[in-house]
Amino acid sequence: MEVIVKENYDKMSRLAAKIIAEVVREKPRAVLGLATGSTPMGTYKELIRLHKEEGLDFSQVVTFNLDEYIGLPPEHEQSYHYFMKENFFDHINIPPGNIHLPPGMVENLLEACRQYEQDIKDAGGIDIQLLGIGVNGHIAFNEPGSSLGSRTRVKTLDNNTIQNNSRFFERIEDVPKYAITMGIGTVMNSQRLLLLATGVNKAHAIAITVEGPITALVPATIVQLHRQATLVVDRQAAAELKCSYRDSPHDLSEAVAYIKRQKGKKS
Ligand code: GLP
Repeated sequence: MEVIVKENYDKMSRLAAKIIAEVVREKPRAVLGLATGSTPMGTYKELIRLHKEEGLDFSQVVTFNLDEYIGLPPEHEQSYHYFMKENFFDHINIPPGNIHLPPGMVENLLEACRQYEQDIKDAGGIDIQLLGIGVNGHIAFNEPGSSLGSRTRVKTLDNNTIQNNSRFFERIEDVPKYAITMGIGTVMNSQRLLLLATGVNKAHAIAITVEGPITALVPATIVQLHRQATLVVDRQAAAELKCSYRDSPHDLSEAVAYIKRQKGKKS
């Protein structure tokens, strides 16, 4: 797992967008796993800028979002369908048919979950999955206690999550109690993970995620087992980390330059 600590939210967002943009430039038909929440908003803003100012092309890109509240129609301002349209999809050139979010209003939920897994598979799997993290260490809506091998399914939201997400609703009673979410196993099947965290209220969750034991009590800890996971966090979210980390992606050219210097010394 690569951990990168940036000075602030803007720098974190710019690096996250750069990483995603590189994936899209390298593979125009890339399959992106996307996330909602306040954390990735700066990343979407920067990706939109890259599209408008530098021609980053999303015309062949396919997306799968992590989760959706159950019981909120796509037009509801707090639904994740609405969030993604407003904050990202309406501002780039992705064909609507390439966009996938778990449906929050279908009655046959079991079939919807099965179909979502199948759609990801049919698209060739997710190339890079963007993730936020809950204060309690949840990823997507995989709350503490979630099976680490779980697939797309319906989850009951933790009281802590309902409390945290109530800031987006008029009253806490309006926060949905259930969500449809990719499972932890689904997330882990992605080729690459990009987890972002900002602010001091995420510091504890990040410390356990990076340096703690892997446990279903903190679902994000599973990313330690992923073969290509990158965590980009700001200084505040890094505040409780014990080891020291870099502020830029690991670059092999430094090591190669060192080898060359060593060779030079010998001759
Ligand atoms: C929600 C989402 C998660 C997100 C988390 C943190 O519960 N389901 O995907 O990571 O909130 O949100 P924020 O980035 O607003 O702190």
